[in-house]
Amino acid sequence: MSHFAADGDIAGRADLDVVLRRFYTAAFADPQIGPFFTEIAGTDLEAHLPRIGDFWERALFRTADYQGDPVAPHRALHSARAMTAADFGRWVQLWRAAIDGRHRGPNAERAKAMGERIALAFHERLAGADAEPLRGGVAAGFVPLAALKLRSTAA
Ligand code: HEM
Repeated sequence: MSHFAADGDIAGRADLDVVLRRFYTAAFADPQIGPFFTEIAGTDLEAHLPRIGDFWERALFRTADYQGDPVAPHRALHSARAMTAADFGRWVQLWRAAIDGRHRGPNAERAKAMGERIALAFHERLAGADAEPLRGGVAAGFVPLAALKLRSTAA
């Protein structure tokens, strides 16, 4: 029984649900970003998973009917405790790891790229004029997808 076997691409909602449970289990336990969920928001994971599943199913496959304002809860979090570029960088790392542990393929790549784009967009929306210049290069603590790819191919 291997938990790390590459299973092929993310084929649909069932695969997404597994990835999301792995990701949020890691995120809740993470010393850096876990407290946003566990201490600040008091997130109920079992309530969060179906909504976030709809969000990702819609983003990747256009099949679910997610209707919500995904920025709003993060704006509330950010005013309780600043969400930094490093926090979003950690989110991206965990998201990549959750996908790479199980999947390879075009949808897996799209999911990783979308996660990074949305993390960048959230950071810019929340930090406004104080946003670290993520698009131009590597801001403190934030490791862009492209840089990770470069690193992993560097001999
Ligand atoms: C450090 C980064 C992040 C933290 C700490 C964080 C934390 C949270 C928390 C605490 C909630 C509220 C859950 C609740 O209802 O209790 C939430 C909601 C949500 N987050 Fe994040 N988040 C982060 C980044 C992201 C990113 C990059 C995405 C998208 C790729 C995302 C997508 C969502 C969505 C779709 C919701 C649900 C909104 C709804 O209920 O309709 N989050 N997040």
